Amino acid sequence: MNKGLSADHLLGIKHISKEDIEVIFQTADSFKGVINRPIKKVPALRDVTIANLFFENSTRTKLSFELAEKRLSADIINFSASASSVSKGETLVDTVNNILSMKVDMVVMRHPTPGAAMFLANNVDAKIINAGDGTHEHPTQALLDTYSIRERLGEVAGKKVVIVGDIKHSRVALSNIFALQKLGAEVMVCGPTTLIPKHIAQLGVRVEHNLKKALAWCDVANMLRIQFERQEINYFPSIREYTMQYGLTKHILDDLNKEIVIMHPGPVNRGVEITSEIADSDQAIILDQVENGVAIRMAVIYLLAAKIDRV
Ligand code: CP
Repeated sequence: MNKGLSADHLLGIKHISKEDIEVIFQTADSFKGVINRPIKKVPALRDVTIANLFFENSTRTKLSFELAEKRLSADIINFSASASSVSKGETLVDTVNNILSMKVDMVVMRHPTPGAAMFLANNVDAKIINAGDGTHEHPTQALLDTYSIRERLGEVAGKKVVIVGDIKHSRVALSNIFALQKLGAEVMVCGPTTLIPKHIAQLGVRVEHNLKKALAWCDVANMLRIQFERQEINYFPSIREYTMQYGLTKHILDDLNKEIVIMHPGPVNRGVEITSEIADSDQAIILDQVENGVAIRMAVIYLLAAKIDRV
């Protein structure tokens, strides 16, 4: 294995260096070999206990972290907000400190509040991994997305990537922008004016409202779902009108005189942001992203565990 991480937690891509991302990728390369063996497990973290705290719904991220931890032989405990004492008025810090007193070393947390992971890292004594904090960041998603681009196209540097859809409410978009830029890609966001934050160009990204022009520019299109659960008002007249302007179809891709890579972080709303025909095509790397998520999360957990004082 290679050198370690300089970061003490994984709170967001904004806070980690390009070198740390490269170390995570190199470590994930080794773990991708492990998870494709008949025996998919290593004894690396037999002495580490990890708590998975999910205060928001999740399928991919929760199962992917859990599997990554099991593949590393860590002990794990799982916690969901609906079944916890948080609903009885206990603070987040008290809840987590109670869990840590059971000799837990690391916390993976998804929380609806932007900044919750950073708050926890500043107030408890454990390694913290942000599994998504509201509309803020989803760092392991961006790592697995950029790792999947590197796998499909050989490298991320110099590639043109458009992120399409509900940029305003998307933690995936923000983390991807930081990761892609750190790795030397050019980034564009595309969607209706109402779903593009006003000042996003200040992050150094291009803004395009026309899907066909965006696709003509890019090498990779990352299609996001509309995050209705975070929208307090309507941002476009109807889903059908959104799909007519921003839904990706075979017809649109056939009109491009090049092949682009199609990504989606999931959950996919088939027939809204992307048709089934495209989602299930060889151009789409959606399930590769999910597979790579386990290797990436194994790498992040393994590298942070190496920084725990285990004597
Ligand atoms: N991509 C993603 O975060 O999916 P889940 O919400 O299912 O974890």
